[in-house]
Amino acid sequence: MTRPLLSRPDDGPTHSADWWRHAVVYQVYPRSFADGNGDGEGDLTGIIGHLDHLARLGVDAVWISPWYPSPLHDGGYDVADYCAIDPRFGTLHQADDLIGLAHDLGLRVIIDLVPNHCSIEHPLFRRALAAGPGSSERDLFVFRDGRGADGAEPPNNWPAHFGGSAWERVVGPDGVPEQWYLHLFTPEQPDWNWSSPAVAEMFDDILRFWFDRGVDGFRIDVADACAKDMTLPDLPDDAGSGMSGLDKFPGHPYFDRPELERIQRRWRAIGDSYADTPQGPRIFVSEAYLGPTPRLAAFTAPGRLHATFNFDALLTEWTYSSQRAMIEATLAGYGAVGAPCTWVLGNHDQPRVVTRYGRRVTGSPYTSAGLGRPSPAGPGADLALGRRRARAATLLELALPGGVYLYQGDELGLPEVDLPPEVLQDPIWERSGHTRKGRDGCRVPLPWSGTRPPYGFSPEDATDSPWLPQPGDWAGLTVTAQEDDPDSFLTLWRTALRIRRQHAALGDGRLRWDPDAPDGVLGFRRDPGFACWTAFDTGPIDLPVGARVLLASTPLTGGKLGPDQTVWLAR
Ligand code: NOJ
Repeated sequence: MTRPLLSRPDDGPTHSADWWRHAVVYQVYPRSFADGNGDGEGDLTGIIGHLDHLARLGVDAVWISPWYPSPLHDGGYDVADYCAIDPRFGTLHQADDLIGLAHDLGLRVIIDLVPNHCSIEHPLFRRALAAGPGSSERDLFVFRDGRGADGAEPPNNWPAHFGGSAWERVVGPDGVPEQWYLHLFTPEQPDWNWSSPAVAEMFDDILRFWFDRGVDGFRIDVADACAKDMTLPDLPDDAGSGMSGLDKFPGHPYFDRPELERIQRRWRAIGDSYADTPQGPRIFVSEAYLGPTPRLAAFTAPGRLHATFNFDALLTEWTYSSQRAMIEATLAGYGAVGAPCTWVLGNHDQPRVVTRYGRRVTGSPYTSAGLGRPSPAGPGADLALGRRRARAATLLELALPGGVYLYQGDELGLPEVDLPPEVLQDPIWERSGHTRKGRDGCRVPLPWSGTRPPYGFSPEDATDSPWLPQPGDWAGLTVTAQEDDPDSFLTLWRTALRIRRQHAALGDGRLRWDPDAPDGVLGFRRDPGFACWTAFDTGPIDLPVGARVLLASTPLTGGKLGPDQTVWLAR
């Protein structure tokens, strides 16, 4: 079933046991990556057919967002069966092929684990509903009687992330309302009860199921929320929505609970038990919006998880002082526990990076206490400015010590799409009472080739249009259009990744701030012989004497560094 990892001709770090410390990981959102069968939705045939894009790009690994059977109430993060592939995406056999082919190309494969909740269509949840109050079946989830005389009030005041209460009342087959169940996300995503040993054991089996098929690691969804204070206390009135790291105060009843450590160590032990296989130990990267940095870094202490997404990189405003403070805090926080940093600029939950950076408000100011809620961005974006900044940010993050996560389409510089309300599928749209459009704007199917929709996303004889409409002006953004353009986003990414693979100074390691960098320029050096300079709102700036330009995020004018530019230097 699993094939041995084969070498890529220019193979870099993919084979080493600590590949995850410096890997560049490409996120595939399966529904929007490539459609092989013409039904308007991406699938495994599409991913397999485009793996060469990832290999040519030069990434080390692919992370595939949920591909499990799901009614898609939350884009697949509502899992109905953790050990199967959704028929709309393909089959288990194809998943095996995909893993093997990726390995043949020297790409590691990470998939999603969604341990906080499942789908209302998961057979165990259905059984729990049928079994009734007090049953062992219900103990796998968090069912409680309601408050008030007739139990009509939710058991506590916890909010759901996408709006409304975190409790949904069950209505029995006779039409009589009975208990409530907990769902931190949509009502279609019931939370597992991690204080039940049966839940922990079931997830052990899920990990082994995929590791045995050759998967190299898991991205852990909402990694800070599985464990709950099972006395289910009310939140204080000023607790906030939980959407920001700062809302997750120490002692919070469902974020960053001490019980998480045991769960993480248990997963790590299972990953480590594969040390003697050709691929070596399997890895875990956590998804959690949790601050300040040392708190999240604790997840990556020895014996816990390998890495965690650094969302501070994504949420911090594009200014010299905030970026520098964020980078210093990140290096210090993860360095203290011996874990690698990761640098993340985009994912399927956040507005596209070129649009964010083109707005007046580009993120939150970085403070040592952590980031607050991102400030309201306001309408409209200067996309030319956003692209220039996103290119500069790309070279900055690829030069920093650690690993990088790249969301599909960001290598093409895709903008956020302002979709019409009638096509929106993100539950945020409905749950927010039509006040927040949600995340569909960054999930629009990728443009591969051609001059009009579906831009090669679907085959020519497709029966259906892409599940979210692509804009009519994306002809210049396709992979084909960018391929041979020396100034394109794609060429920048490919060139940067080639240099990164070959340069001994890049990837894991250390940096030292460059004393020669003028005020307002974020400059650092890495040994041997590498420097990275980013200018924010200053310039033109002379480059250091004797330095040779390896790569510039946009062409230098008169050999000088200008505003919103990054340059890689040999020194
Ligand atoms: C984080 C995922 O990235 C997001 O898409 C999802 O809605 C929530 N977790 C709930 O699973």
